[in-house]
Amino acid sequence: MALNLTQKIIKDHLVSGEMTPGAEIALRIDQTLTQDATGTMAYLQFEAIGLPRVRTELSVSYVDHNTLQMGFRNPDDHAYLRTVAAKYGITFSPAGTGICHQLHLENFARPGRTLVGSDSHTPTAGGVGSMAMGAGGLSVALAMAGEAYVIAMPKVVKVNLTGRLTGWATAKDVILTLLGIMTVKGGVGKVIEYAGPGVATLSVPERAVITNMGAELGATTSIFPSDAATKAFLTAMGRPGDWVELTADPDAAYDEVIEIDLSTLEPMAAAPHMPDRAVTIRELAGMKVDQSCIGSCTNSSYADLMAVSEILAGKRIDPTTDLLIAPGSKQVLKMLAAEGRIDPMLDAGARILECACGPCIGMGGSPVSGGVSARTFNRNFEGRSGTQDAKVYLVSPQTAAMAALRGEFSDPATWGEAPARAELPENAPSIRHLFLTPPADGAGVEIKRGPNIAPLPPFTPLAATVAAPVALKVGDDITTDHILPAGAQITALRSNIPAISEYIFSRVDAEFVPRIKKLGKGVILAGDNYGQGSSREHAALGPRYLGVVAVVAKSMARIHRANLVNFGILPLLLADKADYDRIPAGAEIAIRTGDITPGGTVAMTVAGVGPVAVKNDLTAKELEIIRAGGLLNLVRQARA
Ligand code: F3S
Repeated sequence: MALNLTQKIIKDHLVSGEMTPGAEIALRIDQTLTQDATGTMAYLQFEAIGLPRVRTELSVSYVDHNTLQMGFRNPDDHAYLRTVAAKYGITFSPAGTGICHQLHLENFARPGRTLVGSDSHTPTAGGVGSMAMGAGGLSVALAMAGEAYVIAMPKVVKVNLTGRLTGWATAKDVILTLLGIMTVKGGVGKVIEYAGPGVATLSVPERAVITNMGAELGATTSIFPSDAATKAFLTAMGRPGDWVELTADPDAAYDEVIEIDLSTLEPMAAAPHMPDRAVTIRELAGMKVDQSCIGSCTNSSYADLMAVSEILAGKRIDPTTDLLIAPGSKQVLKMLAAEGRIDPMLDAGARILECACGPCIGMGGSPVSGGVSARTFNRNFEGRSGTQDAKVYLVSPQTAAMAALRGEFSDPATWGEAPARAELPENAPSIRHLFLTPPADGAGVEIKRGPNIAPLPPFTPLAATVAAPVALKVGDDITTDHILPAGAQITALRSNIPAISEYIFSRVDAEFVPRIKKLGKGVILAGDNYGQGSSREHAALGPRYLGVVAVVAKSMARIHRANLVNFGILPLLLADKADYDRIPAGAEIAIRTGDITPGGTVAMTVAGVGPVAVKNDLTAKELEIIRAGGLLNLVRQARA
């Protein structure tokens, strides 16, 4: 039978399950990655499992989120991550080496391999044909322990690319266009597989821009074939031996096909505050831009920054605009420096930041109050920049550079000739020596635990009857940033559940934490697409610690739903979405949990309203996890 690329990789890694869309499948995982903000918790969980060493082909721990080390918390976390890595056989990438996805693409990602990462933009590695999925830290801990990774067999969407990019259109404009077509909900339960003659015209870093922002479609992952361009990239990265050819069979079937003619694309932006609010830059012409930020795991490659350098060469940025540039890795920075491409940026007035996530995670670089920021990043949720009333437009590096020069968005027809697309130098300098390779035997390594490393709180099994009030009622599109805001002060507490829980929903309802503490437990009532955004499991762990027993929503985002299950919170869906309006905040809810069956519907009793039908899309295994009080409890029980 002819197979598409996704099916081929899944077939190669299938531990159990049927390859029919929606069916539960378990996959063998070859590689894992973590970043510091989610990594500390992933490793605390791996430690709790009690193995002497990871069982993957490769596991890498990156430090790229909280690199500023203001106060003791971040350095404590970094010391913990470094020593845990040495003890358990994990490669460690110190702060400032680069952004996890950029580094993984350059140094470790391999075609045909499976990768699970505790960061939602892990699909970036799909740029080289790796099946790379974002997951909660607990799933990553289990993958490191050699447990199979369980997902629903995805549908596969073929995005058929024809033509080639022309003028100022870039890979960013491909994915912004697709986001406009599919929306932030369009990829749920699907893998986005790129095919067609247009694929060959895109380099691996360009493909990685597209797979990176596939996360914003809500997709399981996105993937490109591994072809001559992949071989050229891996060769330039000094690892030609990692290349294998990997393409879909010519007559492979797909669940859906979307056509994109690359030659018709033009510079685009995602308008505030959603990545799918695609508009053309032409439409924005004349809008004042107060700040441009270039970097992040989406757009910080050598080619991206070469284009920026060329645009800025010999010019000065508008005096009322800031320009911040963060190269994605030290390798990118070294290549730019070696070719004299940093000077034009400095002379134009740009600020060069560390090779890290930086402003993308609210680590400095916040825009002015009410300001417009043109960012090459992948998310523009309200407040994520650190300035609550700022308006973030997601754009290509070329568009961000032009906006910085002119101090406003302008019609690309007036920009002159677009810079050429830079090819990677044949012998790109290696930075492999900067990664700390673990010793063959880590038994003697002592793990450093500073005061910011708090043990995991214990969670009790699910009660036979859940009786709790609606502690919070929220609307549609609640993101993980709403549940747990980003920013230096808060993310520094990620290895300390009691401390970080104080910030749960703090920017939505400041009374939520004191209220649920007083109540002891509660239910969250939500609209559509609850929990979209990042993979941060603290957005489930924090509520669980505070006493949230169930989330009842119209619909839910995939990764967050998985995190709720992992930490023993019931994810329930209103059978009739109209019931949302009937249930007031504060209403007492009772659910007989013993009656819940996988995929079944039960009636929950809502005081003053009556019975309300709620369904679930839980598998038997997921229900078992919730009943045990979370996955860690279940794994421990199984090993006892
Ligand atoms: Fe970092 Fe932003 Fe990517 S926080 S991993 S650069 S989405």
